[in-house]
Amino acid sequence: MQELKIGNHIISNPVLLAPMSGVSDLPFRNVVKSFGAGICVSEMVASNHLIRETKESLKKIQPANGEDINMVQIIGSEINEMADTARWLVDNNVDIIDINFGCPAKKVTGKYCGSALMQYPATALKIMRFVKKAVDVPVTVKMRMGWDNENLNAVEIAKMAEGEGISMITVHGRTRQQQYTGVANWDFIKSVKQSVKIPVIVNGDIVGEQSAIDALNKSGADGVMIGRASRGQPWLLNQISSYLLSGIKIDKPDINKQYDTIINHYNQMIEHYGDYKGMLMGRKHLSWYLKQSNACISFRDKIMSTSCKDEVKDIIRSFYMLR
Ligand SMILES: Cc1cc2nc3c(=O)[nH]c(=O)nc-3n(C[C@H](O)[C@H](O)[C@H](O)COP(=O)(O)O)c2cc1C
Repeated sequence: MQELKIGNHIISNPVLLAPMSGVSDLPFRNVVKSFGAGICVSEMVASNHLIRETKESLKKIQPANGEDINMVQIIGSEINEMADTARWLVDNNVDIIDINFGCPAKKVTGKYCGSALMQYPATALKIMRFVKKAVDVPVTVKMRMGWDNENLNAVEIAKMAEGEGISMITVHGRTRQQQYTGVANWDFIKSVKQSVKIPVIVNGDIVGEQSAIDALNKSGADGVMIGRASRGQPWLLNQISSYLLSGIKIDKPDINKQYDTIINHYNQMIEHYGDYKGMLMGRKHLSWYLKQSNACISFRDKIMSTSCKDEVKDIIRSFYMLR
């Protein structure tokens, strides 16, 4: 695999963590990065001055420990707000701005944001133009194949993006209509890759070394982006990079390291969000970790119904120490 060039940035590891709202927060990105990964992209930030100027938003956009290149995604449909948000991010040490043209959620598309913009290429073009003009850092775009099977216009938008000076495109190989159903179409992404000279990243359904190889072979893309499969196994990106970069398959961490990782992640959640929210947000991740470790449902239920953070840690300890 070759190194990835995003504008003036050179990324030697082309295995990126996907932006996932409510998942790719600072604690999770810290944990993924600690094992090894290319850029860990932050959750999307709404392009709205009321939101962007909050303490919460400032926390969202902090780079992970050891992250040299801080890449943050913005979402919105109002051109000036998007440009202002991009400027605000760069003023707060963000190195790459990613524009969200992919989110399928109804509450997002209902406001003409995310994947809805693929239906309005003229607006999408203006957003790219204004954001690009507003900042002097690379701007990238993440999109789907199109709105639905009758409107597969990722190639059209990719060409527009290249024309506007966008530095990289990530394509999730599904339509908006599919949401998360069916399977990602990596072959389709080849048509995007062949239509532009800027780097293209393949995304969707990559769950391990072999699927990463298959996705790259089918799409011809310059790198992979991993989302859901990283939940509960933050070491996955490192396993995939190791295989792609050096052909070496590495095992997942042993049980002691897994336990240390989970406790460390949970402690970071508490520190980042405070006791109560940290405990609630932490539950999701604990559930994913335990699922990966084949914990039975009753055990997972026990954790989900415990509100004391120390008790939660005791339950986790007892689970991992018994194995
Ligand atoms: C919980 C969740 C939140 C997501 N949030 C975002 C987001 O903020 N921005 C974005 O571009 N995509 C978002 N996505 C989509 C992912 O980045 C990715 O494109 C999608 O999950 C497909 O990749 P995967 O099969 O590796 O998960 C989200 C996905 C999930 C499951």
